[in-house]
Amino acid sequence: MSAVGILHLLVLFTCIASSGAALSPAANGRQRGFIGIQGPDLDSVYVDPVTMSTLKSGLTTVFLPLVYVFVFAVGLPSNAMAIWVFVFRSKKFHPAAIYMANLALADLLFVIWVPLKIAYHFNGNNWTFGEEMCKVLVGFFYGNMYSSILFIACLSVQRYWVVAHPLTQQRMDNRLAIAVSVCIWAFIWISTTPLFLYQQTVKISGLNITTCHDVNIITMENFKSGSTFLDVQKPYYYFMVMAGLAFFIPCVVIITAYVLMMRKLGHSTMEGSNASKNRRRAIVLIITVLVTFLVCFIPSNVMLVVHYALLGSGIANNGYGFYITTLCLASLNSCLDPLLYYFVSEEFRSHVKNTLLCRSSRTVERMRVSFSSLKYSKKTNTYTSSTGQTDSSTI
Ligand SMILES: *[C@@H]1O[C@H](CO)[C@@H](O)[C@H](O)[C@H]1NC(C)=O
Ligand SMILES: *[C@@H]1O[C@H](CO)[C@@H](O)[C@H](O)[C@H]1NC(C)=O
Repeated sequence: MSAVGILHLLVLFTCIASSGAALSPAANGRQRGFIGIQGPDLDSVYVDPVTMSTLKSGLTTVFLPLVYVFVFAVGLPSNAMAIWVFVFRSKKFHPAAIYMANLALADLLFVIWVPLKIAYHFNGNNWTFGEEMCKVLVGFFYGNMYSSILFIACLSVQRYWVVAHPLTQQRMDNRLAIAVSVCIWAFIWISTTPLFLYQQTVKISGLNITTCHDVNIITMENFKSGSTFLDVQKPYYYFMVMAGLAFFIPCVVIITAYVLMMRKLGHSTMEGSNASKNRRRAIVLIITVLVTFLVCFIPSNVMLVVHYALLGSGIANNGYGFYITTLCLASLNSCLDPLLYYFVSEEFRSHVKNTLLCRSSRTVERMRVSFSSLKYSKKTNTYTSSTGQTDSSTI
């Protein structure tokens, strides 16, 4: 399928981009990538000039926080509304709503910490909230990323299941969906703990700022002996394993589910408006998931592995701006997921439409009542006027 081809292209592209950066004239053997060498006082680290200019650049102090402002402004209300609709406004629970409610919860748990990230970047990449808060932010960021991928995979499989077996037992499916969701949360809880185990905030000498998660410490002795990989091997293996378990495997599951679903819809014997409507909704869902992966998950997961591999090998590269931008784009999934809710759930769709038109369900009800009484009064009008003209054809 084309998604696999695009994935291959993307990996190829990043490889070319990073090797191109490595060979660029600015990088002579002595200049290194985005690493902080621990200073003699062990309190602050020294970074190379390229790093320093990136930390002062408009990319990290203006563009990235503006993207996060957008994420917060769109992601918070839409996901809060999704939870409200799926949990409190659903007349009947079904598995898709359970997965989408969990997806919305994962997004909400990340989005509430985004203001700290906005302040950090607008503040010149100066983290003033302490090591613990930095760890919370990092933990919820990656927890959101991997749990979103897993819940989207579940939703995709469930959508295929509905198409393939239209007459399944709802109650059993609900129990399965709840069990799977609990397992995913347990997995995310366990798999994010390594992020809490190593220091995330780093003081940069010369700039007087403290970065959060953006600079890795390389100790002086490992730097001198050329074994810099020892200092980044933990995050390297961590993101490698997570890219396999919580990105690549779900990717394969999602692609399989959609290929099977399209086959089923294509071979569907029943013709007519219902079948074509199902097909159209399936295609819109697939396109939304594809865009989410192309923008949010594929670039960030590829760059996470490439970034730590380059750091470990000590190869000079200017790919840091690209890497940090892909991580920022990953947070956009909190704004793209509501599109999924919109295309899958009729209830969410009608609530969004009413909200955008500034109507509550009560006013909708009231409008319907007044509309029907209007029709009634019109009818009586016609009646009275038509009797005057002795023309009763309108009744
Ligand atoms: C950083 O702080 C030190 C004193 O703590 C000061 O001497 C130095 O000028 C400051 N540098 C910058 C770039 O603000
Ligand atoms: C960063 O924040 C720290 C702590 O609040 C402060 O002392 C320092 O001056 C700030 N650095 C810059 C460059 O504003």
